[in-house]
Amino acid sequence: MKLSQPRGAAAGVAVRAHAKINVSLHVTGTRPDGYHLLKTVFQSLALHDRLAFEPCDGPFALDCSAPGVPCDERNLVWKAAKAVWQCAGRQGEPHGVRAHIAKRIPAQGGLGGGSADAAAALVALDALWGTGLGEERLQVIAGQLGADVPFFLCGGSALGLGRGDEIYPLADLPARSVVLVFPPFGVSTPEAFRWFDEDGGPCPSSIPAARVLWPDGTGVAVLNELQAAVGRRHREIDEVCRQLREQGAEAAAMTGSGSTVFGLFRDDAAGAAAAAALSAAGWHTLVTRFATRRQVFARRGLSGRGPLV
Ligand code: C5P
Repeated sequence: MKLSQPRGAAAGVAVRAHAKINVSLHVTGTRPDGYHLLKTVFQSLALHDRLAFEPCDGPFALDCSAPGVPCDERNLVWKAAKAVWQCAGRQGEPHGVRAHIAKRIPAQGGLGGGSADAAAALVALDALWGTGLGEERLQVIAGQLGADVPFFLCGGSALGLGRGDEIYPLADLPARSVVLVFPPFGVSTPEAFRWFDEDGGPCPSSIPAARVLWPDGTGVAVLNELQAAVGRRHREIDEVCRQLREQGAEAAAMTGSGSTVFGLFRDDAAGAAAAAALSAAGWHTLVTRFATRRQVFARRGLSGRGPLV
């Protein structure tokens, strides 16, 4: 994420919260608490929300540009604020900051929008409140907020193990144009994992997996073991993958628990042409790119404090 001073605000903080896709997602087991063990390669995207935090008198307040997003204790940004406040030993409810989310990452899409916002809030509020929690404690709080949140403190390309919350930074994958296709329904994360269990675990996909290679020749197979379970209930998922491959995508898969599907293209022109073709066929699309760790964390302002890389 990117930290900067919002224009016109003396001591505020602005943060970019980048979306992710799961380039690959394998389910390797189940934990006694019902969580699933994952082996997943996360990849940051240029697509991002913008969060602004400004000092104010009174209790912590939150608003969001997108209708339907809860702006109270149910929001992960609110939970992040409370967690930073409490972890720093502050008394009572968090106060003195007003947060605004300019939302561009679609909700319930498998792009990690809520988790990205939460991680951005952790970093920004730790800086703004001067709580100095540091990388390790922020990582612990992130894992308590949600399995995806720790990745967003790392960004770029990263391996996620455990619940997806044990993060190992990887070298950045080579640049790709990414076409996102949004089917007209959302899938909740618990629902997707429940369907996966009901279907008896990983099933072979009808879509052949392609590999994306790092410059050293090692690669990652683009596939998602939750896709068959979600695709069985929503035929559109595999259909969109097929159409993306027909339009020249080197690989296509569902991200996270869905419902968003992505196609990877070697250059922006090919991505834009494919997005135009799918839009003409009636799909809602968006073109973005892989974002490197450096792009996610390039920062302005806030000298001396910073993101966790
Ligand atoms: O941690 P998070 O709130 O994102 O997870 C939401 C739900 O998704 C969990 O309660 C669980 O049902 C499911 N989940 C899972 N295994 C994971 C991540 C999430 O079963 N690794």
